[in-house]
Amino acid sequence: MNSDLCRKLGIEFPLFAFSHCRDVVAAVSRAGGMGVFGAVLYTPEQLRTELEWIDANCGGKPYGVDLIVPTSIQRQGGSGPSDDQLLAGLPAEHLAFAEQVLERAGVGADDLEERRCALLHISRNLDSAGAEAMLDVAFSFPIRLIANALGTPPQIMLDRARAAGVPVAALVGSKQHAQRQVAAGVDILVAAGGEAGGHCGEVSTMVLVPEVVSVAGDTPVLAAGGIVTGRQMAAAMAMGAAGAWCGSVWLTTAEGEPSQVVKDKMLAASSSDTVRSRSRTGKTSRQLKSAWTDAWEADGPAPLPMPLQSLVAEPALARIEALAQRGHAGAADLATYWVGQGVGLMTQTTSAAEVVQDFKRDYLAATERLMATLED
Ligand SMILES: Cc1cc2nc3c(=O)[nH]c(=O)nc-3n(C[C@H](O)[C@H](O)[C@H](O)COP(=O)(O)O)c2cc1C
Repeated sequence: MNSDLCRKLGIEFPLFAFSHCRDVVAAVSRAGGMGVFGAVLYTPEQLRTELEWIDANCGGKPYGVDLIVPTSIQRQGGSGPSDDQLLAGLPAEHLAFAEQVLERAGVGADDLEERRCALLHISRNLDSAGAEAMLDVAFSFPIRLIANALGTPPQIMLDRARAAGVPVAALVGSKQHAQRQVAAGVDILVAAGGEAGGHCGEVSTMVLVPEVVSVAGDTPVLAAGGIVTGRQMAAAMAMGAAGAWCGSVWLTTAEGEPSQVVKDKMLAASSSDTVRSRSRTGKTSRQLKSAWTDAWEADGPAPLPMPLQSLVAEPALARIEALAQRGHAGAADLATYWVGQGVGLMTQTTSAAEVVQDFKRDYLAATERLMATLED
């Protein structure tokens, strides 16, 4: 495709794959789109290993990195709370509730503390000192895009990206967010509608994209949220988007990171089988409905602020995932993962490269349909 954005990033087709899975990132970049590696779950050392692999397997094609540095945490400056302070800040009520949900399903909760300690590095990635260590690693690779998920990117991210000539993308869920991001100097806006998997706002993609485009000026806007087909990408581009940024559609590919149990649940799910809930990270994120999300929505304690809620939820969800994979029925009922409403259109497993080719074909057919409406 001959667009400014494609030329700027060196890609053929403006389909962006947000993924925590290196295989998806490399496959989408090789297929002509752009893979963007979600780094929040990794330590700086692990990020280095993953990026070395992506760099060696993307066929010399462009790829990017996505970090989560919430604005509220950046304002604190320096390091966030210590590991001990974080653990001490977890209310007994929340820990007990998570254990109860597991025990009711016969999953047991004996290794949660160990799993919690293993996840403490995620909290470090969310403070500015931790984010800086991740930026050091990210910018030691020839990345072509760096994205920030929550709020305005920290000045250090903008400065380092400028110095390296790497465009900065930022996710926005409202027109006001978009205006703040443009004022801060980001290069690409990702307008993530309420249909999206993961953190999302309330405004639907259909409304958000033209709203964000109306205030973006020359800043290109990528449409995100619910897009799992080329025809939806064409619709978003008809509304002024410069491309599509997708997270959910890769989850049910052969390479996708969820366990087969969760993939099967996604393949069977309808678009009504997701829920926006604060029970996983403390901020509203869309995920697959399951016995776990039902329990929190029905009578769970009020979610804790980020990153505390993750330290309650993630160890339990990791245990659930491990047992579900071993065939535990109670764990399979509880198993969930972030996914958007587009899950209702995700009905079969192919490879990530095939998804890119399907998008291209479907995009072309959609634009031809539109052109045909203008013929005599
Ligand atoms: C499994 C999953 C994990 C996600 N984690 C992050 C993240 O760490 N950082 C981020 O910027 N966005 C994250 N997102 C959101 C995506 O960047 C994107 O906005 C969203 O997936 C688009 O909507 P879709 O899921 O309908 O394609 C995640 C999405 C999914 C599905």
